[in-house]
Amino acid sequence: TEPLRLGIAGLGTVGAGVVKIIRQKAALLTERTGRPITISAVAARNRDKDRGVSLSDYAWEDDAVALAKRDDVDVFVELIGGSDGPAKAATEAALTAGKDVVTANKAMLAHHGQALAQLAEDNGCVLRFEAAVAGGIPVIKALTEGLAGNDITQVMGVMNGTCNYILTRMENAGLSYDQAFDEADKLGYLEADPELDVGGIDAGHKLALLAAIAYGTQVAFDAVELEGIGKVSIADIRQAADMGYKIKLLGVCRMTGRGLEQRMAPCLVPATSPLGQLDGGTNMVMIEGDQVGQIVMRGAGAGEGPTASAVMGDVMDIARGTRLSTFGQPASSLKLVTAAQVATP
Ligand code: NDP
Ligand code: HSE
Repeated sequence: TEPLRLGIAGLGTVGAGVVKIIRQKAALLTERTGRPITISAVAARNRDKDRGVSLSDYAWEDDAVALAKRDDVDVFVELIGGSDGPAKAATEAALTAGKDVVTANKAMLAHHGQALAQLAEDNGCVLRFEAAVAGGIPVIKALTEGLAGNDITQVMGVMNGTCNYILTRMENAGLSYDQAFDEADKLGYLEADPELDVGGIDAGHKLALLAAIAYGTQVAFDAVELEGIGKVSIADIRQAADMGYKIKLLGVCRMTGRGLEQRMAPCLVPATSPLGQLDGGTNMVMIEGDQVGQIVMRGAGAGEGPTASAVMGDVMDIARGTRLSTFGQPASSLKLVTAAQVATP
């Protein structure tokens, strides 16, 4: 059988994790998909950096766009990050060259999801992004596949591992904000610009992507009402605890009679509730559908293994021949959310 040949751009926390899985589980991947999954070439900035995994079997490209266009690459795996710049240029190059793309880049999709999904469709390509939302939790698959027969009434959850880690370490271990932040950094949770995490922007990106799938709308990140955890102090956390509550960066999206509502902000939740007991980098997503009722998914929201796990799920779908639309329906049928269709409180 013909192998599925990958080009992986970005060899940081997530990229190195993906290379490790492909090297360590080659037989399992072939068994499950019916064809070998191989790596033809990789790209990153620094060729000499030790990434904890051997790269000597793969061709090296300094330029992600060149990697995306290589003849020996069937699927371009974008794990560089950033809404624009090399990640977007290389993703566009890959799709234009007729190659499928798997990415973990929520910033890029929150800003350019519609155009990229359309480009994929126009070129007969698949563009998948399971790893971009809630790390290892397969929430995109749940919405686009298992729950596709439902009218979704609400999607809610904790979607940023860094913020949840910082809040819970401040509460449970009495750490300062800076100490908890440094720990999250060591665990590989942070975005290259951590303001995206603590400012609630990363979680807002994720919420906007879920809303697009849930409601068949174009991604409306600009319409997300956002507040991060920057103003949450230890005193706030203690006061909440005294009253039996915890503070969580909680997102909710729903389609109301007044339009699409998307909110991401620190909220009080009962300490004994499932949300209140969500510690560390764990995420939780609750989806309500008119037929299924409530589904709750909980798991690691960031870090090497969980995120690489989600990337591999998408790669293996492509290896199996699954051709899903990026947002669960044709890009051309996604409805534009105008300012008048955005619900404000
Ligand atoms: P890292 O910062 O750890 O890695 C980024 C990688 O991109 C590095 O290997 C870097 O090279 C490489 N890179 C930077 N610029 C270029 C370029 N111009 N051309 C080629 N390669 C380049 O990021 P993460 O692995 O943490 O994140 C990657 C993506 O995954 C992001 O979109 C992020 O939002 C997303 N994500 C991350 C999660 C996590 O837990 N970390 C979870 C879910 C999604 P070098 O190493 O040489 O500097
Ligand atoms: N920085 C992100 C987080 C990575 O902390 O949740 C996972 O998307």
